[in-house]
Amino acid sequence: MPHKFEPAHKERLLSQERKRLLDPERVIALLPMEPRHSIADIGCGPGFFTLPIARHIPTGRVYAIDIQEEMLEAVRARIAEEDVKNVEVRLSGEMELPLENESVDGAFLAFVLHETEDKVAFLKRIAKALKPGGWLAVIEWYKKEMEEGPPAYERLSEAQVQRLAKKAGFVQTRKLPLNEMHYFILFKKA
Ligand SMILES: C[S@@+](CC[C@H](N)C(=O)[O-])C[C@H]1O[C@@H](n2cnc3c(N)ncnc32)[C@H](O)[C@@H]1O
Repeated sequence: MPHKFEPAHKERLLSQERKRLLDPERVIALLPMEPRHSIADIGCGPGFFTLPIARHIPTGRVYAIDIQEEMLEAVRARIAEEDVKNVEVRLSGEMELPLENESVDGAFLAFVLHETEDKVAFLKRIAKALKPGGWLAVIEWYKKEMEEGPPAYERLSEAQVQRLAKKAGFVQTRKLPLNEMHYFILFKKA
């Protein structure tokens, strides 16, 4: 089982350095979001992307989902502090995504897929939760050794993510580097 991000280090996920590297507004501009969309931020952590996404679609809804309660407590605190009204926080199990079938327009997976055990089954479960034509955005680390981030053997190359997503029934619509460490791939439910 790949290791999960340690909640004790969750502040690292909210750092200014990370904001500089992975500006959420820049990432949001790549998502095919519409004002009334329902978006699942799966593996939301302390909500680095959740809150900016929610602010971007004030008439839509964001489901902040994670398997670690401590991460969800951090998101709840930030939602209350920033008075964001359109986020619903849901505890997940490794494979038990708390979403109805065909209930969301988009799924956002930032630095999560490499932490999951059965990646194709996980992506298939996400595909079920998406409405027809729904989108899936994946952000991951390039598969090489770096000072920061997970060990290279736990990382997923772009080709691996493409293969996994294809097996789960997704079609790629866009792929680009976000910076020298991270890449972004957008898929559509076939
Ligand atoms: C590296 S953190 C990234 C958090 C957030 N997406 C971000 O980029 O700031 C990965 C998160 O995914 C969660 N996670 C791992 N496996 C998961 C699964 N099967 N379902 C939902 N969340 C999962 C972990 O608990 C952790 O909070």
